[in-house]
Amino acid sequence: MDYRIGVIPGDGIGPEIVREARKTLDAVCAKYGHHFTYTELLLGGASIDVHGVPLTEGTIETAKGCDAVLMGSIGGDAKTSPWYQLPPDKRPEAGLLGIRKALNLFANLRPAYLYDELRAACPLRDDISAAGFDMLIMRELTGGLYFGARRTEEVDGVRVATDTLSYSETEICRIAKRAFDIAMKRRKKVCSVDKANVLDSSRLWRQVVEEVAKEYPEVALSHMYVDNCAMQLVMNPAQFDVILTENMFGDILSDEASMVTGSIGMLSSASLNETKFGLYEPSHGSAPDIAGQDKANPIATILSAAMLLRYSLDLDEEADAVEAAVRQGLKEGYRTGDIMSEGCTQVGTCEMGDLIAARV
Ligand code: IPM
Ligand code: MG
Repeated sequence: MDYRIGVIPGDGIGPEIVREARKTLDAVCAKYGHHFTYTELLLGGASIDVHGVPLTEGTIETAKGCDAVLMGSIGGDAKTSPWYQLPPDKRPEAGLLGIRKALNLFANLRPAYLYDELRAACPLRDDISAAGFDMLIMRELTGGLYFGARRTEEVDGVRVATDTLSYSETEICRIAKRAFDIAMKRRKKVCSVDKANVLDSSRLWRQVVEEVAKEYPEVALSHMYVDNCAMQLVMNPAQFDVILTENMFGDILSDEASMVTGSIGMLSSASLNETKFGLYEPSHGSAPDIAGQDKANPIATILSAAMLLRYSLDLDEEADAVEAAVRQGLKEGYRTGDIMSEGCTQVGTCEMGDLIAARV
């Protein structure tokens, strides 16, 4: 089959990790007889350098014409990069938020899984990591604090900054349905995470999630406050199947969940709208400190490419093959620096990409 894939290398380590993920996709094409036409798109700092803004209409329109988009990472070093001399709405991150909103990518799936092979890299106590874990964070991505009205002003000579956290029942309902749908294909458990003991938006969140749950009698629903969830993730991560949560909580909890898998370099993500289209990116950032040094772990991006195959192109067998190739590489003892442990073979970004592509 022929598919159109948009590619956003982005900033920092973005170009190198995307290059490695493309090797894997090319291996999939060769093995299964598909043909991908890649179109490179500018976003974030890379777009600022060329167009002066982090996101253009051209990028949005071209992305819309693709079956899916694979992205690296966005952003630079806030202390040294000239991008951060620009006003906040012109900085690299604004481009990422802008494309999420423009393409209505409200459902952000972030799976966190502990590979047996990476148990040594897991920072949790042995008795906790022994139970393993396999969870999926369903993060709402186009609402809440990220997109509410904000302003900074001076009131009676005092600087005041305001961000607004708002959710409509429509927004909550559609992301809740996504969480329940995916739970039906997993272990049929949804833990909805909120701060309903304090926030109105969380109280509405809880009510609407309860209403949606009635349509899914087979799924066991529980609720958890976000502070407790942050603790449970390191105390007993095995309890979680699908975690459903709003934008900001999901941002924070997904970094935590990724780190307990051994490294933030392992966590993939898919951002989906109501159609088959999706934007696929690692959950981690652009790590400008190690950019261009062949040190970055490309696995999160390669696993994001597997999600692209699965969710946007319905190529389940191909996605399984990519995930198996990653596992095989780990089983054979290959590690990038971030997941390195004794007795393993340390490799760079490029070699890791080569060896995973070769195992597809
Ligand atoms: C993420 C990132 C982004 C976010 C930043 C770069 C704006 O941290 O995808 O988790 O907060 O959503
Ligand atoms: Mg984040």
